[in-house]
Amino acid sequence: MPGTSEQITRLREEGMAAIAAARSESDLLDAKGRFFGKKGAVSGILKGVAALPVEERKAVGELANRTRAELESAFDARLAGIRDQERHRSEGRERIDVTLPGRGPMPGHRHPVSQTMSEIISVFRRLGFSVQGGPDVEKDYYNFEALNFPPEHPARDMQDTFYVESAAGDLVLRTHTSPVQIRTMERMKPPVRIIAPGTVYRSDSDITHSPMFHQVEGLAVDRDITMADLKGLLTEFCRMTFGPTKPVRFRPSYFPFTEPSAEMDIQCVICGGSGCRVCKESGWLEILGAGMVDPTVFGFVGYDPEEYSGFAFGMGIERIAMLRHGISDIRLLFENDIRFLSQF
Ligand code: PHE
Repeated sequence: MPGTSEQITRLREEGMAAIAAARSESDLLDAKGRFFGKKGAVSGILKGVAALPVEERKAVGELANRTRAELESAFDARLAGIRDQERHRSEGRERIDVTLPGRGPMPGHRHPVSQTMSEIISVFRRLGFSVQGGPDVEKDYYNFEALNFPPEHPARDMQDTFYVESAAGDLVLRTHTSPVQIRTMERMKPPVRIIAPGTVYRSDSDITHSPMFHQVEGLAVDRDITMADLKGLLTEFCRMTFGPTKPVRFRPSYFPFTEPSAEMDIQCVICGGSGCRVCKESGWLEILGAGMVDPTVFGFVGYDPEEYSGFAFGMGIERIAMLRHGISDIRLLFENDIRFLSQF
């Protein structure tokens, strides 16, 4: 049948145009049905090939097959395109608005207590102290007894804590970092110059006390160590931490493991000494306890008190962080509210 080739060529053009014009999957399926589906025009021609004169059969058959294959691949490509467009349309929010501000990652930083702790450690390192540690769950012996708190001694009430009876002997959550003094002296001979940062626990909770808090302990033992060394060191520490002009003072105090004992104050950071609510109108804020190591303590670790003397001190890290940043409630430090923490 003359003209079959031309017919196929025309069907190809129309089919391609219908595919290109399709705007949806159903438009496309429509075009397929009309031109190259099982009942489409090109298939119809293929079915009629057998009836053609022998000399035309091969050429027409080949052309029709090729045309159908070409239409099919155009169909597949368009189908993929339409599905893509539909996906984008349904996810309209995916449109990129280049005028929106970027969503940057939120970089974290160290907690103000950790920052203060690191700074205190680095100040004492520069002053020649090394860092020691001890367990949070401590033997009664180290937390109290070897620090000259005998069993039942009322001084234990100053540091009430959680007691556990165990096969290993009486255990406590340590109430201060002072047990590290004993552990260190058991291990080392003088000269000793150490600090011991760590977590401590007391059954205590209000706006200036938390049941878990942090301390840095200090201990120096050598020949001829005097209270003047203690005062000089701690005054220098305060200069480095609170600035060179902040006034400080020492007051007599009592601890079972130091004699004499003292507490150190800095001038109130809020009112500058004139008196306010934070310093309870005194103009001063307490920052640490300290004193000369009691000879009884040396007895527990086998140091000769005739040959050696030493001093010790212990400070609360939260307290110092609060003073430096003007934070009025210790509980803020443990709530993990990002609006609070991101200020430091
Ligand atoms: N451990 C004492 C306390 O927590 C502080 C202190 C340490 C006092 C060292 C004197 C010497 O209260």
